[in-house]
Amino acid sequence: MFKINDNYLKLPGSYLFSTIGKKVREYSQANPEKEIIRLGIGDVTQPLAPAIITALHKAVDEMGASETFRGYAPDLGYEFLREAIAEGDYRARGCEIAADEIFVSDGAKCDSGNIQEIFSLDNKIAVCDPVYPVYVDTNAMAGRTGVYEEASGKWSNVIYMPCTAENGFAPELPKETPDMIYLCFPNNPTGAAITKDALQEWVDYANREGAVIIYDAAYEAYISEDGVPHSIYECEGARTCAIELKSFSKNAGFTGVRLGYTVIPKELKCGGTSLHSLWARRHGTKYNGAPYIVQRAGEAVYSKEGKAQLADQVAYYMKNAKVICEGLREAGYTVSGGVNAPYIWLKTPGTMTSWEFFDYLLEKANVVGTPGSGFGPSGEGYFRLTAFGTYENTVRAIGRIRAL
Ligand SMILES: Cc1ncc(COP(=O)(O)O)c(C=O)c1O
Repeated sequence: MFKINDNYLKLPGSYLFSTIGKKVREYSQANPEKEIIRLGIGDVTQPLAPAIITALHKAVDEMGASETFRGYAPDLGYEFLREAIAEGDYRARGCEIAADEIFVSDGAKCDSGNIQEIFSLDNKIAVCDPVYPVYVDTNAMAGRTGVYEEASGKWSNVIYMPCTAENGFAPELPKETPDMIYLCFPNNPTGAAITKDALQEWVDYANREGAVIIYDAAYEAYISEDGVPHSIYECEGARTCAIELKSFSKNAGFTGVRLGYTVIPKELKCGGTSLHSLWARRHGTKYNGAPYIVQRAGEAVYSKEGKAQLADQVAYYMKNAKVICEGLREAGYTVSGGVNAPYIWLKTPGTMTSWEFFDYLLEKANVVGTPGSGFGPSGEGYFRLTAFGTYENTVRAIGRIRAL
């Protein structure tokens, strides 16, 4: 008789966004005349930039001619893209990352979920609270997180690092030493950024304690302030303790195109074993490469035209962030984020819980956001809005919230 991986049975409830989707569907069915504005899921709304479309068309044409047709892509990514990334995202910023330390994939969600596979089940993870749920759930599926305690909303074998208004939504070094530390900056969901000095402390801590940092830089393109690192490799010593995850979804609108990458420096070792070689083995065995067409589109992100067009796209979303932050502040809300990230994190009014505020906004303003408690216990009493809507919808949504 076969057995299932019963770690899956330990996972609580349904995925946050399924619950939101269900609530919105039910409300829409009951109120078909209401027009709902969605500022909940972190999906983009602007079309792909012209430089990317041109690259896609060209690559499609190449696939239609026998001289230029391509089959399986190299498992770890085409050289042209890995070189463009090494130059554009690292060398240009003074970070020492070689093309062969970059593993191209179909996005950061898969990589952030899969990376735990190369680590022992005995490792203890530390996560920010609130947190992007994928880090915790994938460790739970692997059997690394102990049991889920309904009352506290926490796993028994996970170190939670609360990110609250009191600490400026910045995690503090945990009292208990973790083996694997997940950090995401600029942060989803709080929109908080980390300074280079603060990140350096984490790098020093990880090197000192023999921990590995899994650093998710999916929102790096939204950094607007000086002193905020675009990559963990800006910190001294990060090559011996950090893995970095990147996505093309938010800087270039690839949520539906799918492209990302993971960086593992060759010096990152456990005893004599390099994590680079383990991940190369894993990637080569389980992954057959991101599509050629998509990798050519990714290359265009680093072209002169691509960079200029994408800077405009980021500015478009950040204008929305400003509309949200200013509008909510004027309406009396306590708001953070929205400066180095496309996420705005607001305190729910009075004693309202995150889900009560969700229902209130849905019913009274027909605006959908994301309840903070869905990201972890310290998210209770908070609410996330995204700047990824259209400008017109963002202005209308904030107008409706202000009119409540
Ligand atoms: C922190 C973080 N990492 C990774 C991802 C997923 O990125 P991708 O679209 O590349 O899978 C998201 C998506 O919302 C995210 O918020």
